[in-house]
Amino acid sequence: MKATVTAHSKYTISEIDPRLYGSFIEHLGRAVYTGIYEPGHATADENGMRRDVIELVRELNVPIVRYPGGNFVSAYNWEDGIGPKESRPTRLDLAWHTSESNQVGIHEFAAWCAAVDAEMMLAVNLGSRGLDEARNFLEYVNHPGGSEWSDKRRANGRAEPWNVKVWCLGNEMDGPWQIGHKTADEYGRLAHETAKAMRAFDNSLELVVCGSSNAHMPTYPEWEATVLEHTYNEVDYISLHMYFENRAKNTANYLARSIELDNYIRTVAGVIAYIKAKKRSSKDVFISFDEWNVWYHSKERDKATLAGAHGWPHAPALLEDDYNFEDVLQVGCILNTFINRADVVKIACLAQLVNVIAPIMTVPGGQAWRQTIFYPYFFASVYGRGTALKLHVESPSYPVDGIGEVSYLDISAVHDAGKRTVTFFIVNRHGTETLDLNIRLEGFGALTLAEDQVLAHSDINVTNTAESPNKVVPREGEGVELSDGRLAAGIQPLSYRMIRLQG
Ligand code: AHR
Repeated sequence: MKATVTAHSKYTISEIDPRLYGSFIEHLGRAVYTGIYEPGHATADENGMRRDVIELVRELNVPIVRYPGGNFVSAYNWEDGIGPKESRPTRLDLAWHTSESNQVGIHEFAAWCAAVDAEMMLAVNLGSRGLDEARNFLEYVNHPGGSEWSDKRRANGRAEPWNVKVWCLGNEMDGPWQIGHKTADEYGRLAHETAKAMRAFDNSLELVVCGSSNAHMPTYPEWEATVLEHTYNEVDYISLHMYFENRAKNTANYLARSIELDNYIRTVAGVIAYIKAKKRSSKDVFISFDEWNVWYHSKERDKATLAGAHGWPHAPALLEDDYNFEDVLQVGCILNTFINRADVVKIACLAQLVNVIAPIMTVPGGQAWRQTIFYPYFFASVYGRGTALKLHVESPSYPVDGIGEVSYLDISAVHDAGKRTVTFFIVNRHGTETLDLNIRLEGFGALTLAEDQVLAHSDINVTNTAESPNKVVPREGEGVELSDGRLAAGIQPLSYRMIRLQG
């Protein structure tokens, strides 16, 4: 099976916003407690944060982390998480039916973000609360001092404001499950007024308004149109969320779902363009794909806890998907889609980062380890910075019901002109056949092979575990031929590959 690709230094999609490789920490399950925070742990720092987790997050070079939810934020009082830890209240978290001890709040999270070298992306509660809570939180976080909330921050030990730029106006407000769920008009009005108030404080903030929770919501895509009608001139991004599952155990169909993702992005980009034209606006709104991942392996296991059958446990194991090798390919295809849509998708957050549908897992009191999906995320985040290239791709394809023809070759490429690198991220969706890949390279000058990494396994169901964390790890690829502006490589069936060339 043969595929040919042409890459030209001048055929570009867009500069990639580094925040395309963001992630997400929610007060959910063990993401925070025994995830990033475990004061008694052997590696805990002075703030009780696990250094072993910090190291793994730093390895991923995560540029931005969304916090504190998710569904959690829609009934969250941010004030519960400030002040002396011993006087912070325990609250019932209605989103996940658990108890929240509030031992981690904005100060602890901000210190952790500094330790992992990531920007904060904060969400305000527009479910059970509203504009007033949002403006107070903003004042607490970003105002230097001399006002009630900023002086409280100073009294709580942080003199400098954190100057957080990116703020989410609520979470999944179209979802009937959301505490304080609203219609598109109700939410659009509230989001507009909240954005206006936040901009009155600082016009340079980057504000994210909620789009649909997924492309199968009955109100999609009318929700986007209505919400943007209300908010277009006050916001910078609209959020999209999508989770992937393969309950049917059909690999070919599962790996085709990134085409649905692509259609979802195109549709919302179309709605944005429509509202922009309707408003005669010269300003652009982009997409913040601030929740995406595979999520289904843990759903049966979690049912009883989420139904409240176990009472109100503190930090129970929830949404702890055990990712298999097949998910490596899916995550590779998803990241390729974001790179190929880097002109409209500026922020994206892998949901989530630690323990909860996460690339990083921890054992309480024990080690931290990498799930299978850690690796495609690692390669894209570390090597996928620069300019996304518009590739010409010719590949055999297969038909999928409801989607159409799906290319066996899934590919994206990033050119870093400063470092003189060209990096290809490649997935072969074919179950049995090697893809003889031929890439014509034009306009890059002479290139040599800098790195070739492969993720492949004979068993698509294999998982890494705490006991055997290295069943799926990258290995060096072989057989790349590079001559006369052509690259040739055999991409083995159901494999992920990163090939990086150096000028
Ligand atoms: O990431 C898990 C949950 O998925 C989030 O809390 C919510 O926003 C989404 O439905």
